[in-house]
Amino acid sequence: METVVSGIRPTGNLHLGNYFGAVKSFVQMQHEYNCLFFIADWHSLTTRPKPEDIIRSTRTILAEYLACGISPEKATIYIQSDVKEVLELYLYLNMNAYLGELERVTTFKDKVRQQPNNVNAGLLTYPTLMAADILIHKAVKVPVGKDQEQNMEKARVYARRFNTIYGVECFPEPASFSFGDKALKVPGLDGSGKMGKSDGNCIYLFEEEASIRKKVMRAVTDSGPTGQNQPKPEVIQNLFTFLDIASSRDTYEYFDEKWNDGSIRYGDLKKQIAEDLTNLIAPIREKIKEFMSDTVLLDKIARHGAEKAHESAAKTLREVREIIGFRPE
Ligand code: ADP
Ligand code: TRP
Repeated sequence: METVVSGIRPTGNLHLGNYFGAVKSFVQMQHEYNCLFFIADWHSLTTRPKPEDIIRSTRTILAEYLACGISPEKATIYIQSDVKEVLELYLYLNMNAYLGELERVTTFKDKVRQQPNNVNAGLLTYPTLMAADILIHKAVKVPVGKDQEQNMEKARVYARRFNTIYGVECFPEPASFSFGDKALKVPGLDGSGKMGKSDGNCIYLFEEEASIRKKVMRAVTDSGPTGQNQPKPEVIQNLFTFLDIASSRDTYEYFDEKWNDGSIRYGDLKKQIAEDLTNLIAPIREKIKEFMSDTVLLDKIARHGAEKAHESAAKTLREVREIIGFRPE
């Protein structure tokens, strides 16, 4: 069975971008693949979080994974820092990663702008750690949102380069994957860009109904269609993206027709989106609360996941050590 790996950094609650861009695919893929889903706590250190924030966010994401429907019986759910083999592979991959190519990664350049006083080596080598996460399990598919494309390209380069340097076929080249069709970008509610924690334009899976409604009703629009069958401006296309991912096909087509004949009322469109998002989020929110209150269960699941992930990682690492010329253990 093909192996699938993905992770999310523990930097707060999951939002709809995370859900539609990644976690929804995790839930669907667990039935068809050998899946390992983790919480990328090492990656979160690039921005120096406080220990209590890491502890809280790690527990939150674990509860949210479970609440969304990832099953510990089907998939391996673990915390990245519990599986130390990843670090050893990270070191080996770093030896074959070049400064120039790492400096050209857009997310690195963004971080240099955002935190000029903390341009640390971990930020620079973020893509090699991500590649190690994936290659340690020889994963072939990685469910991630569109913004991770460049990191995924690096993971393929490092897999290929390792194989070439040692003349082996050790690592398959991992592909980004989205269960729908193509990688998805969930827009923000402020009219531009993507939904993201740092941009403060998110709807969270843990969010209460009134707050969801308020945020959707405040989403940026324009003054209305200027005629029939006009192309949709970005802010309006964004609202239709929400309809597309959260509402039924019929609902989408109903509003699409209204747009095309020029009779659309944005208030109605937003009410519909708010209702459909609320219906989606409400049961997940309740389950998050349940899981969050059962820390014994969360710990048990994380420990069990760590054991399974360790087994898979140790197997690859033995092979890699031997290829490099080290004793297998
Ligand atoms: P954030 O941008 O809020 O910090 P992360 O970068 O931690 O979110 O993303 C975790 C996962 O969720 C990744 O797979 C990423 O591609 C996906 N993701 C995040 N935001 C979006 C979005 N707006 N649309 C699609 N996928 C997203
Ligand atoms: N870089 C990913 C993000 O910001 C998180 C991540 C770390 C990841 N390691 C990974 C995703 C391995 C997929 C596979 O969202």
